[in-house]
Amino acid sequence: MTADTVREEIEALRREIRRHDVLYYVEARPEISDGAYDRLFERLRALEEAHPQLVTPDSPTQRVGAEPRDDLPTVRHTAPMLSLDSTQDPEEVRRFDERVRRAVEGEEVEYLLEPKLDGVSIELVYVEGRLDRAVTRGNGWEGEGVTENVRTIPSVPLRLFDEGPPIPELLAVRGEVLMSLSAFETLNQSLMEEGEEPYANPRNATSGAVRQLDSSVTARRPLECLAYDILEVRGASFRKDRECVDALRGWGFRIPERVQAVRSVEEILEYHASFHRKRDELDYEIDGIVVKVDDLDQRTDLGSTSRHPRWALAFKFEPRQEVTRIDRIAVQVGRTGVLTPVALLRPVEVGGVTVSRATLHNREELERRDVREGDLVRIQRAGDVIPQVVEVVPEPDRERPDPFRMPERCPNCDAPVETSGPFTLCPNRFGCTAQLKGRIVHFASRNGLDIEGLGSETAALLVERELVTEPADLFELRVEELLPLPGLARKSAENLVSAIEARRSTELRRFLFGLGIPDVGVAVARDLALHFRSLDVLRAADEGELEAVRGIGPKMAERIVDFFAEPRTAGAIDRLVGKMSELFVADEGEERGPLEGRTFVFTGTLESMTRSRAKRLVESAGARVTSAVSGETDVVVAGPGAGAKLGKAEELGVQVLDEEGFLELLAEVAVDP
Ligand code: IVH
Repeated sequence: MTADTVREEIEALRREIRRHDVLYYVEARPEISDGAYDRLFERLRALEEAHPQLVTPDSPTQRVGAEPRDDLPTVRHTAPMLSLDSTQDPEEVRRFDERVRRAVEGEEVEYLLEPKLDGVSIELVYVEGRLDRAVTRGNGWEGEGVTENVRTIPSVPLRLFDEGPPIPELLAVRGEVLMSLSAFETLNQSLMEEGEEPYANPRNATSGAVRQLDSSVTARRPLECLAYDILEVRGASFRKDRECVDALRGWGFRIPERVQAVRSVEEILEYHASFHRKRDELDYEIDGIVVKVDDLDQRTDLGSTSRHPRWALAFKFEPRQEVTRIDRIAVQVGRTGVLTPVALLRPVEVGGVTVSRATLHNREELERRDVREGDLVRIQRAGDVIPQVVEVVPEPDRERPDPFRMPERCPNCDAPVETSGPFTLCPNRFGCTAQLKGRIVHFASRNGLDIEGLGSETAALLVERELVTEPADLFELRVEELLPLPGLARKSAENLVSAIEARRSTELRRFLFGLGIPDVGVAVARDLALHFRSLDVLRAADEGELEAVRGIGPKMAERIVDFFAEPRTAGAIDRLVGKMSELFVADEGEERGPLEGRTFVFTGTLESMTRSRAKRLVESAGARVTSAVSGETDVVVAGPGAGAKLGKAEELGVQVLDEEGFLELLAEVAVDP
């Protein structure tokens, strides 16, 4: 055989195998027997073995081949992977529809409906039709590079099917990696037979498999991938989402079943109901449906918030509920002295998570629902919030103990409690160590002084060993005192002391947040800092002066005044201030935005984000964006394909940034791309 005929045969075999892969894995209608498929595959493998120079990474033989890794790299997404706004309430769906219609001003609206797959979402990037990388969602901007693992998933095309639509230069697809329930059960069975721990649910199993360091392990997991969104495409254009779906199908992706176009809320409700009925019959987990505006221009008009697009909505099913028994009711004391009753449960799986505690909120809620120790209760987990007790399951034949009473004394410090509305409070602000622990954790938290290494465990130890009796004491801690604490090696002790030391100079707003003033969260703390600009001025302010601050009403003003007037609080603050070298207010400009007063023009394409995102970012930092370059323009950001605007900028001597320069600028002004 000549080199050319070998090459031709290899190409023909790959093409044939890819076609059968799509038929088998994507469309579930194989045309040949497994034996016939294996023979094609073996023939290809033999030819490649004899001619290794002809092996390419997109060959069907190359799904597994990488060496195990030490860690997963962090990789930036082509375009941000936003999440979906979600609801369970049909009324919210109506309001969503109304908002959409208002925004497109009377144009016709069509929605595309899909099941909401409960798996692991992933970005697949194809360059010139070849799978270049696969990235987990991560924080939405960047995720973990899991290319080698995802290559092993048979329904992920390594190369776009070229008998479909033309192959774009660049294609970033969003999809969901899943494990079917039956495959999951088989996997767990065999894990248990091998003496290994089974997975709690298909999503955990999927997530573990996708994030493997050794892709040969991933290859043994029965994963599937369904594609449902085009994040970015260069070299093709679409006007409707349904065209995207068709193109994805044509390129060889599996897409969710029953994608449907509708025009009314009624049809959305129907679709939702029909999937809900089928939910338990499906071989994979879905947690609702997704409603998406079909027209892509309308999507652009609708835009996105920083977290989710305004053109889509997840219409979820009610959360998974489970029934379990309450072993005991415990009472927790928080930072502000509020006592919270907590049900300690017989551990139970709820929608895939083991739950062993559920909040009972407060005295009134507890009474209203008449929850007692030993009761059988229905609990639910809504999203990632603390599990809730929905109701007591009646057991007519069971003798119940007396109703649970909130304690009359603080379970932590034994001080007599007080009641305030539905709440029960421990008034021993300064003597109750549970409150002190909470205050230390809050003081050191991310929005407070942001002291690394000072979480709840360390705070608890510091308080229990009486190394810290008030926040000011933190600044007196010495490494030697910390060494005896369990789990604190010298290195961590040194790090903690220097992390605290570094915070002697702190932004006023962080300090104010950290004090834990009633009602003062991040936003109010910032407003107070910007308004008063000094702690002394704020402490001297009366109610009237406080009410002059945006967002502060009479009630809040009174609470703030009371807080600073309390003698022991005042003393603790004085001592704390004595430890600080500086409480500074970030420059005024920061409030209005670091790019205030500057005018930007964008031209050409950007690699790391869409132009509309870039525009929003600089606008959120206070800049203006215009379309034409003029004497008013301060910065032109030019990517590949930049047009006449670039020439004009050069002519006028306007600063020109390429994408790297632009990203640097964003980093300088602390705007997260
Ligand atoms: S569309 C901008 N369609 O649900 C968001 N998402 O928070 C575009 N998901 O992690 C996503 N099935 O990965 C879309 N048919 C579907 C989906 C889907 C599952 C995931 C998505 C995200 C989560 C929503």
